[in-house]
Amino acid sequence: MSDILISENIRGAGVDALQSRFDVSLQPDLWKSPRALAQQLKGYRALIVRNQTPVTAELLGGAAELIVVGRAGVGLDNVDIKFAEEAGIVIASTPDQNSISAAELAIGMILSLARMIPAADRDTKQGNWNRQKFVGVELYGKTLGIVGAGRIGYLTARRAMAFGMKILTYDPYLSPDNVLLSDLQAKLVGLDELLRRADVVSCHLPATRETAGLMNSACFSKMKPGALFVNTSRGAVVAEADLLAALKSGALGGAGLDVRSSEPPAVGELETLPNVILTPHIAAFTREAQERVTRAVCEDVARVLDGKPAINPVASAMPRKQAVK
Ligand code: MLT
Repeated sequence: MSDILISENIRGAGVDALQSRFDVSLQPDLWKSPRALAQQLKGYRALIVRNQTPVTAELLGGAAELIVVGRAGVGLDNVDIKFAEEAGIVIASTPDQNSISAAELAIGMILSLARMIPAADRDTKQGNWNRQKFVGVELYGKTLGIVGAGRIGYLTARRAMAFGMKILTYDPYLSPDNVLLSDLQAKLVGLDELLRRADVVSCHLPATRETAGLMNSACFSKMKPGALFVNTSRGAVVAEADLLAALKSGALGGAGLDVRSSEPPAVGELETLPNVILTPHIAAFTREAQERVTRAVCEDVARVLDGKPAINPVASAMPRKQAVK
């Protein structure tokens, strides 16, 4: 029996610490071959992944020795939580360790769109000096609509307040008397009202059955003409073809997408639009966030292997392996 298999590119002090105590196999590209992963995982007690490894019921069910999966990140859409719970396998994630980085990228997207920074950069590097072409808009006094007011949505709104933006939030799970709303001087509104009133809409939603394709043509048609749209959460929440149509028609002023409906995406028309900013799912990719995420996930995996409860379990903190067939 072996200890820990890491199927994505996860490195740092946390992994070094694990390596000093356990047998660790770091295979950064293994997520690309589900069959090879399933084959190798059979002998391991722990698996550590980011968001690219599909941790399916089939994978978990075939790994008789597995007692813990560490998810280096916060989104759980790639992990079959229900099956893991039934099988007695602990899933440990790293809530909040990368929230600041994600919020900072959302703000970066908003500023970049408002001032057309990437387009101006490309144009200027071609030898041009087109000042009139790049007349942007101020954020000051504008309204930011936060769709999904969890920790990252909250941190994004806090930062936008420093620019003098007014905040509207939509979150069906947030109570209107939640203290975060008064902290943000924000109004909790329905999605339609948010879309009608916001100059910038920023999505901070998990990928669930409820949020799949939530941002679609009906939503885009309700937004203010020329409004900006940012998604740094999950690609599945946006109907990409509808977004493309809204951008091409000029209904929306621009979009910033860090996440896509399939990753990596096929190159298409979104890639050709000058008012679209695309990044490769890097919201959590800062040195600081990665250090925190790696340390947190490795510590929890070590705890479970040592017979202790996980600190950040998604469901059960201790394994119950007898449920595995
Ligand atoms: C997350 O879910 O934490 C982020 O999307 C980053 C990641 O999955 O690697």
